[in-house]
This record gives sequence, C-alpha cells and structure tokens, in this order.
Amino acid sequence: MTAVDGPPVTGQEPERPIGFGRMKRKEDPRFVRGRGRYVDDVQLPGMLHGAVLRSPFAHARILSVDTSAAEAHPKVRAVVTGETLAGLGLAWMPTLSMDTQAVLATDKVRFQGQEVAFVVAEDHYAARDAIELIDVEYEPLDPVVNARHALDPEAPVIRDDLEGRTDNHVFDWEAGDGAATEAVFARADVVVRQTMLYPRVHPAPLETCGAVADMDPVDGKLTLYSTTQAPHAHRTLYAMVAGIPEHKIRVVAPDIGGGFGNKVGIYPGYVCAVVGSILTGRPVKWMEDRSENLMSTSFARDYHMTGEIAATRDGRILGVRVDVLADHGAFNSTAQPTKYPAGFFHIFTGSYDIEAAHCRVTGVYTNKAPGGVAYACSFRVTEAVYLIERMLDCLADELGADPAELRMRNLLRPEQFPYRNKTGWTYDSGDYPACLRKALDMAGYEELRKEQSERRARGELMGIGLSFFTETVGAGPRRHMDILGLGMADGCELRVHPTGKAVVRLSVQTQGQGHETTFAQIVAEELGIPPEDVDVVHGDTDQTPFGLGTYGSRSTPVSGAAAAVVARKVRDKARIIAGAMLEASPDDLEWTKGRWSVRGDPSVTRTIQEIALAAHGSLELPEGVEGHLEATTVYNPPEMTYPFGAYVCVVDVDPGTGSVKVRRFVAVDDCGTRINPMIIEGQVHGGLADGVGMALMEIIGFDEDGNCLSGSFMDYLLPTALEVPAWELGHTVTPSPHHPFGAKGIGESATVGSPPAVVNAVLDAIGVRHADMPLTPGRVWQALQGGEVEA
Ligand code: CDP
Repeated sequence: MTAVDGPPVTGQEPERPIGFGRMKRKEDPRFVRGRGRYVDDVQLPGMLHGAVLRSPFAHARILSVDTSAAEAHPKVRAVVTGETLAGLGLAWMPTLSMDTQAVLATDKVRFQGQEVAFVVAEDHYAARDAIELIDVEYEPLDPVVNARHALDPEAPVIRDDLEGRTDNHVFDWEAGDGAATEAVFARADVVVRQTMLYPRVHPAPLETCGAVADMDPVDGKLTLYSTTQAPHAHRTLYAMVAGIPEHKIRVVAPDIGGGFGNKVGIYPGYVCAVVGSILTGRPVKWMEDRSENLMSTSFARDYHMTGEIAATRDGRILGVRVDVLADHGAFNSTAQPTKYPAGFFHIFTGSYDIEAAHCRVTGVYTNKAPGGVAYACSFRVTEAVYLIERMLDCLADELGADPAELRMRNLLRPEQFPYRNKTGWTYDSGDYPACLRKALDMAGYEELRKEQSERRARGELMGIGLSFFTETVGAGPRRHMDILGLGMADGCELRVHPTGKAVVRLSVQTQGQGHETTFAQIVAEELGIPPEDVDVVHGDTDQTPFGLGTYGSRSTPVSGAAAAVVARKVRDKARIIAGAMLEASPDDLEWTKGRWSVRGDPSVTRTIQEIALAAHGSLELPEGVEGHLEATTVYNPPEMTYPFGAYVCVVDVDPGTGSVKVRRFVAVDDCGTRINPMIIEGQVHGGLADGVGMALMEIIGFDEDGNCLSGSFMDYLLPTALEVPAWELGHTVTPSPHHPFGAKGIGESATVGSPPAVVNAVLDAIGVRHADMPLTPGRVWQALQGGEVEA
C-alpha cells in the first residue's frame, strides 16, 4: 500500500492508493540510517589514494616542476605531472563547450587552485604530505580578474595555448530582433536602464567531487565510481579522451550528495585517478576537500548585465533589451546545449506579453576557476529571471506603480498559450494571472502594504518583494539540442517479472531528488501496480540505457516521459496477452488501473500480475508476439516544458545594522501534473533556501591578484534554518500538453524564482532602486547611506 504522509500543506491533493500522490521516499530509510553509499564509501582491495597539487597563483608561467622528493617518499607509488600526461596525449581534455581545459598544467597556470600535479600513495595522508614535497618554480604574470577589463587591449592573453589567440574573447551571441526592439524603444514614454551583476556563486553540494578508478590490467576494463550527474555522457567522453573503447568503460554513480550542476562536467581529478590506476595497476581513489571544491570546481552565474525596459506611461511594457558580459573563467567549460553559448538566457522576456526583445551576450576568459554551470537552473534561466524581475521593479519605481499591479497588467493571458515569445521559445501552457492572484491572496498582499505604511510611519523598514518566473526545462528536442554532438534524448527500459514485480532502468541519475520513488510512481500510475513493486535502477552505465543525465530539471520532462511511454508499451503488450488469455480480441478489452477486462463485462478480467505470469508461461501467444513482459524506448522530447510560479517575500531590515530578516515567503508553483507533492515541496523548500542564500549571503570573491576569498564555509556562507522562515507553499496545475502525463520539471524552480523576490523585498524596504547581491548587512547599510552598491 502507498504510504500517505499527512495532509498537503495547502490545497487539496487527491490521495491515490496507487501511482501519483504523497508517498514517503523509498531511498530515505537507507539515508536516515547512514546506509547511503557515496563515492568516498567505496573501498576496493589494494586501493591507493590520490591528491592534487594546486597552483597558488592565478596566472603564472611554470618554469620547472621537481618531483624527486615526492617520488622518494616511502609510501608514494606514482607522481603524475603535466609532462607525464603530455606523453600520454592527456595533458588537455575537451570541455562540454567545445573548448579545451588543462588536466594538469604544462605551460602556465590560469587560476588559483588549478591542478598542477597528482600524487598516488598508499594512504590519503601520505598523498597529501607528498604533494607538499613537489617543488614548482613559477614566474607570476599579471592576472585578469575583473571581467569588465578582460577585453582591454593591454589585458594579458590568458589562453595563449589556443592558436592565433590575441585576446580573452570567448564568444558573441545574440537573440531577438534588434531593429524591432529599437523601434519600440523609440516610441516608448518611459525607458529605464539598470546595470546589475549576478555574482559568481557556487553550487556547494554536501558531497564534494571525487572518483575511484579501477583499471583491470587483465581484461582492460575501466570501472570508474564517480560523483557524476551524467554517467553515460561521461563514459562517452572518457572513451573519446583516453581512447579506451566505450564498452570497456563502466561509470558508476552511487549515491550522490547533491549535484546542483556541480557534477555535470569532467574534472581533472577524475582523469588523474584513471591515469593513476593505469600507471600503478591498482584502484585509485581521489576525493577533493571543501576548499578544493569551492575554489576549483564549476562556479555558477557571474553575469554582468545591463538591462533596459521600455513602457508606456500607464505601465504597458513594450520592449526589453539586454547586454551581458559573461565571465567564463580560465576555460570555457560550461555544460549546456552546443548551440546555446549563453544557455537559455534569452528567455529573459520572462512571463510578460512584450512586443520586442533583444539581447547580446559576450563571453570572456578571466583568471578564475572555469565553469558557468547551471546551478539548479536550466542553463542561465536564473540570470534571465533575475534580470527581468529586477527590471520590473525598477520600472514600477520609475512609474510610481505597484509592482503587483504592474506584473498583473503585463502577464501573458491563458488564451495566448501556446505562446511564442520574442526570442523564439514556445511556452506550452499556463494561467499566470491565476497563479499570481493565488500568491497575493495567500500573502494577504493588501494587508501587508497597509502594515508596511504603518511601520514606515514608525521608522521601521519592512519590505515586500515579488517575482513571477517562467522556466524552460526538459532539454531537449534532438533537432536543436545536443552536448558535444550527443543528442538529448533519454532511453528507458522496463521489465515486469513473472510475479508482477517490475524493474525500470533509467539513464538519469538522482542526486537526492527522489527518483527511486517518483519514477516507481510513474510506472505504478501507468501499470496499476503499487510503487513498492517497482525497483528503479540508475547510475550505472552497465545496467542502464544511454541518456544525457540529470541537470536543468530535465529528469521528469524527459526521462519521466520515457518511463511513462515504456510502461504504456508494456501495457499494450499486456493487452494482447490478456486477449489470448481471455480468448477475446484485444480490441474488445478496456483498461482500468492494473487490469485488462472485456468491455461491458468487468468480471472477465486479468490483472497485470496474472498477465506477467502468463507472458512467461506456456500460453500460446498470438503470431509475432514474443514472450515475457518488457519494453524499451528512447524519448525525444518534442518541446521544452515551462514551469512557472509567483513568489512573495516579506522582510524586515534593521536600519542600524543593515541586517535582513526574511519574515515570510509565499511560493506558488505550477509544474503541471504533480507526481509526488511531498517531494515537490521538498524540492521547493531547498530551492527557496538557495535563493535566500544567493540574495543575502553567497559570493565567490577574488582580490585584485586573483586570490579566491571564498575557499571555505567560514567565508562562503550558506543559509541555515536560522536564516529562513517557515515556507508557505501553494500550487496551481496546468498540465503540459505535449508531455505524456502533463508534467513539467520542478527541481530548480525555487532557486530560479526566489532571489529576485528577496532582493526586491530588501530594496523595497530600504527605498533604493538597485543594489547588487549578496545583500549582506554591510551592503544594505552602505545602500542606506546612499552609497552605490556593486558586487
Ligand atoms: O532533473 P531533476 O530530477 O533535478 O528535476 P525534476 O525533473 O524537476 O524532478 C525533481 C523531483 O521532483 C523528482 O523526484 C521528480 O520526479 C519530482 N517531480 C514531481 O513529483 N512532479 C513533477 N511534476 C515534477 C517533478
């Protein structure tokens, strides 16, 4: 029986005994008992340990690397340098954005924390001790730290390894219609311009990155346990980079302690572990520590944006245009579909009915860690939502309009869906005004405004901030989305055993989102068997079909759809077998959850369990029908799905210290059909905390020499239960018309939608048009004194 976990937080959720509905997570018993098995829990016989020597400089030429003392250490079994790798043709590797990245530096180091050498030793401590014995002679070079100066003619060229390279330019990209936008701006009554930075932040998963590489010298098979959000894509890349045949590589992603985009790319440490295992003939484990994770693995955001919004005097938005300078760090290793160098930023027109829009994005190299990953967002949607939702508040400020009314006035209307926006995205479905109305009602918006003016009269700083966001998730249709040439379709396999218990094999890899539960629920919903009877297999390339992995909230829109399609195929096969069992034509059978029955006579029926047994038995099957009950599919999404939501944040600001207390947060989300409301609420809670963190606390900062100032959790602050309120959640449901059961993604909605609501609330409290995140007490206080606040 499906466990039911108390009443929903808000709204009435139909509770179903089978399939969709509230159900406790199948994976939690092992997590709460400490029985999860993470990469660092993997212990193999004879296993050695690796450690990475990292650069202390942001930009420096390597003059020499002396490893003799480290090699003489009694417990050291191998020392790998850039030169060793160059001899194997592995000193550089391709990035997911078609750039190259140094595995171990040979010529120069290009960011502080870059990988310079790798030591393999009998234990972790000896490996760490031995990296201290390596003597590297550096010639420091001027670093490029500020992206705004990366293209100055006198800026040092960071990527002189690239042939013919004379500057730090990565790409130029634009979307929308420049001329049409120019025209609407020319006839607008009001134009508001605002520069803003979405600062560099870090996904900071609970578990840092690591791998255990085990190259079997006898059969030539490499088994790699690693913290990966995309096991199949990684396997293909290792085959391409290392020249090991793909069928001789097994990538296993065991339990993963959070990914958030941080574990999509391939890091040098993984490759070094593989090389270490090849050189020593023994398994090699490499796990980075927290500082290494914060300083060297993929960051997110770092978008310098200048937005302009054009409107009529009475608040009708006409156009939006944006110029972006994107700081990509030392190597362009963002993970996003190939044709979208600025990710999905061009969804920046948001949720509004706008006549014209245009954006230009320029990417630059700087001497900082590479990345630009989609931290809990679908490839730069977070930056886009922040831009438009801040611009809406700037416009409201200019017009003296109420931010809720301004949004309501310009939101897309239900009858406009499917809606093609001005930069080419086709939004699938939505009732935006109903969603905003619900959020405002839950918050008691009118009352809050009254309370605010009473408090203001007493000199108290209370702020109310809104955001309305539209995401584009479920990458993506093969016809225009691939990563390194690999199309973004997902495979899925379903097998029903003779006793009616099922195994579904997925290409996506959960990192804590609860796939073992929700994917079992999808199969349960389609086959009418209890979710407890469905085992979900994932995270092992030897056990699962090919697919591109979990990020950008794509699991439910793509693999979730695949799971439903494959279950329907099994159901169709079961119908034919039931026909044979009942000696009836399959056309005369009808499906009710869990059984095929003769139409008009429900007593003549066979359950899916009975059919499964017959499928494996001696029943004479119709011509062309093979025995057993199983199916496979590859799901190529026809379009993206578009979750959306309306958020209201209430804050109190201490005028003396500038500290911000988030008093209330109302979040109304719409992710189409809801599989498991309890899991959805958990996803939203986490994302809202992310948003409060980014808005108020988090930044990966650098000094002018390129030293990373945020290399520990003492400096990179994450929100705790003390900084966040009790979330008030609501939802609306507008199913996606093209998804098999109408679901859209939810994993990242709250991370995407919440930062502008918090920032808008703080700025509303202090009466300042703009200040850059993170709105730390110091910055808020500075803004209160009338100072310009730039990150
Ligand atoms: O790709 P990722 O798993 O991070 O994101 P997602 O597809 O949005 O799913 C996050 C979790 O929420 C999964 O367990 C989903 O199955 C669940 N979910 C749901 O219950 N109903 C939805 N409409 C969307 C997601």
